[in-house]
Amino acid sequence: MCGIVGYLGPKPALPVVVEGLKRLEYRGYDSAGVAVVRDGRLGVHKSAGRIHVLEQSLDLNAEEGHLAIAHTRWATHGAPNDVNAHPHIDASGRIALVHNGIIENYQALRKYLTQQGITLVSETDTECLVQMIGLRYRGDIEQAVREVLLDIDGTYGIAVICKDEPDVLVAARKGSPLIVGVGKDEFILASDASAILAHTSHVIYLSDGEIVRITPQGVRTTTLNALPVTKELEEIEWTLEQIELGGHEHYMAKEIFEQPEALRNCMRGRVDGKHGTVHLGGLAEHWRELTRARRIVLTGCGTAWHAALVGEYLFEELARVPTETEYASEFRYRNPIIEDGTVVVAISQSGETLDTYAALREAKQRGALSLGVVNVVGSTIARETDAGVYLHVGPEIGVASTKAFSGQVTVMAMIAAALGRRKHMSQPSMELFLSALSEVPDKMQRILEQADLCREVAQRFHERDNWLYLGRGYNYPVALEGALKLKEISYIHAEGLPAAEVKHGPLALIEEGMPVVFIAPNGFQYDKIVSNIMEVKSRGGHVIAVATEGNREIARLAEQVIYVPDIIDPLQPLLTVVPLQLIAFHAAVLRGCNVDKPRNLAKSVTVE
Ligand code: M6R
Repeated sequence: MCGIVGYLGPKPALPVVVEGLKRLEYRGYDSAGVAVVRDGRLGVHKSAGRIHVLEQSLDLNAEEGHLAIAHTRWATHGAPNDVNAHPHIDASGRIALVHNGIIENYQALRKYLTQQGITLVSETDTECLVQMIGLRYRGDIEQAVREVLLDIDGTYGIAVICKDEPDVLVAARKGSPLIVGVGKDEFILASDASAILAHTSHVIYLSDGEIVRITPQGVRTTTLNALPVTKELEEIEWTLEQIELGGHEHYMAKEIFEQPEALRNCMRGRVDGKHGTVHLGGLAEHWRELTRARRIVLTGCGTAWHAALVGEYLFEELARVPTETEYASEFRYRNPIIEDGTVVVAISQSGETLDTYAALREAKQRGALSLGVVNVVGSTIARETDAGVYLHVGPEIGVASTKAFSGQVTVMAMIAAALGRRKHMSQPSMELFLSALSEVPDKMQRILEQADLCREVAQRFHERDNWLYLGRGYNYPVALEGALKLKEISYIHAEGLPAAEVKHGPLALIEEGMPVVFIAPNGFQYDKIVSNIMEVKSRGGHVIAVATEGNREIARLAEQVIYVPDIIDPLQPLLTVVPLQLIAFHAAVLRGCNVDKPRNLAKSVTVE
């Protein structure tokens, strides 16, 4: 979604912020813009479309200012055009502002501004902010921002500059991330660490309700009420190399193929195969509460919700705790019951998904112990939870989530096993489970070696408009995830279902040659899924099966089989999901889709 970059330092600011915007491209956007202060003037350039369109309208070398802000906009209020693009400027032409989030009381502000004789030129909620700041400006931009924010309802991450104060960059956040990169004599502000990494790995994470004033002398953080806040300088653990393509054409392919290594990193120092134990430092102080938990609620959106569904099976089977999976967007609004002993776990790659964050807040307010299973270190959800476990799978740039899904499942497997062991699981069972978990990366690698087979499936069916994905037990969430991957990047309609449900309606969809993917590894529901395969096959469906190596029977039933190594049922999703990721990837490439930036989608959804 929207992205913010700001720069104050000795370098020409414009190339720095434009480069930063390019690093944020993966988040999804539909217009872009920059504002630069130079020689007492404020230069603003904006355009609908991609960053390279904006770049064509800029003379990066001519604009030599040392203070600039920039933005990529994902339209909410008003069409994606040049006028609605950020930065917005106040009526006096002195102040420029970029904004992520939504100003909820913007209608009232618009009315007030109109009464004050201000003509608003855009359809955005954001313009109200800068016009209000312009009205309050008395020579101190920080003070004007502070006064206005006290009247704002909604969410924001903002960066503001004023041509009369060429050495001051002001930023503030509420519900939308902002990070200040602190380099040698220079400062890079951004909504995402990837725009900062090329300059420094030392950062300050802003928290909600904080304003930061950046000048050549340093960074000063205060609350909205002007109380000083002491901030720690922290280290970003990702490297520049990790956010680059590294020889791949697409981030999604890179991230699919990185999964074995990503999971090794995720388990490193945590799974101790020798002693049959799991160490999760982030939960160290909470095991007592966790072992007493009477109910676990897992919440997230999209792929994270699918991972949560796998988690539900894992927690119930390994830890024997009643567990539910909730769409974060539903949970937050439906007056959820949080009793004593309820633990709510927010699952999120970015740690910034607004619905998930809001669900977490709701749960916390009602007294739940809140945990996070998050990838991005220092993200909002990671900071707001009582405790949690990071995925440590490295940055995920492709909009379609792949290695984060396997990381989320792996982390939940570790938590569920550690909890189970504290409750009822015997040490030999724990050892068996952890030994199976440790084998996942190598087994995944074997599946990745069959990428050509997945390409053949995609080649044969990429022109079909409807696909079904069916699975049972642990592989039911995998069916949902396979269908989501296909639809989001190849725009093919696909549905995922529990295999047994198909005869309660969706069977009517089956027609000659329709691709139906069965996730059918060996396991306790294997015989049942064979019956479901027969039901589809006898109605003309073209069966593509993901099955366990050595299963010859399935080759007689299915038209195409992709084999995965044998593994215990609870860990099957970590293997069976891989062929589905590859099929979706190849289908999208064959259809000429923009794999990493699918239409209408954003990497991190920071609006409702
Ligand atoms: O960053 P999060 O894990 O909270 O994101 C949640 C979903 O928006 C995300 O998983 C989305 O469904 C992906 N595009 C799926 O590939």
